Amino acid sequence: MSTAARVHDLNPPEDRAREPFDVARIRAEFPVLQECIYGKPLVYLDNAATTQKPRAVIDAIVGFYTHENANIHRGVHYLSEQATMAYEGSRNRVREFLGAGESAEIVFTRGPTESVNLVANAWGRRHLKPGDEVVITGLEHHSNIVPWQMACAATGAVLKVVPITDEGEVRLDDFAATLSDRTRFVALSHMSNALGTINPVKEMTALAHERGAGVLLDGAQSVAHLDVDVVDLDCEFFALSAHKIYGPTGTGILYGKRDWLERMDPYQGGGDMIETVTFEHTTYAALPHRFEAGTPNISGAIGLTRAIDFVDRVGIKAIARHEDGLLAYATEVVSAIPGVRLVGTAPRKGAIVSFVLEGVHPHDIGTLLDLEGVAIRVGHHCAQPVMDRFGLPATARASFAVYNTRDEVDILVAGLEKVRKVFS
Ligand code: ALA
Repeated sequence: MSTAARVHDLNPPEDRAREPFDVARIRAEFPVLQECIYGKPLVYLDNAATTQKPRAVIDAIVGFYTHENANIHRGVHYLSEQATMAYEGSRNRVREFLGAGESAEIVFTRGPTESVNLVANAWGRRHLKPGDEVVITGLEHHSNIVPWQMACAATGAVLKVVPITDEGEVRLDDFAATLSDRTRFVALSHMSNALGTINPVKEMTALAHERGAGVLLDGAQSVAHLDVDVVDLDCEFFALSAHKIYGPTGTGILYGKRDWLERMDPYQGGGDMIETVTFEHTTYAALPHRFEAGTPNISGAIGLTRAIDFVDRVGIKAIARHEDGLLAYATEVVSAIPGVRLVGTAPRKGAIVSFVLEGVHPHDIGTLLDLEGVAIRVGHHCAQPVMDRFGLPATARASFAVYNTRDEVDILVAGLEKVRKVFS
């Protein structure tokens, strides 16, 4: 398809106020996409592991350390005030992006893993009782399994898992059947990192609420691909990762409804999370600071602001349409390769194609594709129970982002044909 046709298709009337979607111009914003690997142009298809960063994000981080570096919430001097304003401004930008009501509901963490651990420890260990049930799904990443196993082990609560179908879906009736009057909490992946399945989380949240349970949505994969509004979803918690939405590593977010955050103990003690300290007694800072002990990742927050600016400028709906087109094309051409079997064929998916190739270990696929300049992830994708469900040790996974093209899908397919020949 020509660039002109893409520009036209991807800009329906509601997006006309935005810049036309132009993948070549978007690619030019990402310095690493201009690199060659083993003399071949980089084809980066490992976006579910981490996305590449646009120049605006890189420049903001360099600019902070070059011109503004200081600690926050502590100094009366100019630089500290600037840094504090930038950090708190980022919190407000995230609030706006997620549709949350107030900045006090936005907690900076080092990633969704820490966000889930924060809830599992600060809410779970305080409120779960023996015999209570915590419900997760068979699609979860380890970071939304292990913290709940630990919280259950500490409190006597029981972990229940909703099974997944052969297509890699969680059916609403299976989900409803797993809930009971003992369900206190539900932790769900919004979009599976291993298979791409998008869960009907709004409906699932409503079902959990009918049982009086709170809901955490793991949005690590979803926010870069879907329009998220936490008030509309009505979840109690939402976890996201900066580095999977074109921002820096080491920064994440926990959104929490105020009344839930208020019923949580601090997660870690230290500077910046207190109001007063004596050797006898400590009182804690107001939300959200009581959950942010120590000097945070200030430049990470600033980088995240620029990443959100980038996503908003391109438009999340235009991004989703572009990626849906890539997913449909990649699904068609990859599954047509003899010996390929797709793993995860749910009707509602994000732009992730997980697959196996008969007679070839996924690690060999990844290594040979790498020699073609094509970066994919191979392995269990930190979701071993998903692999077990399909009786596989690993899959090969191509995951797409706003800057990927059909030409890159063709290079992936040509690489897979070479792999097939080597092993035939
Ligand atoms: N969770 C990341 C992935 O899916 C690292 O690759």
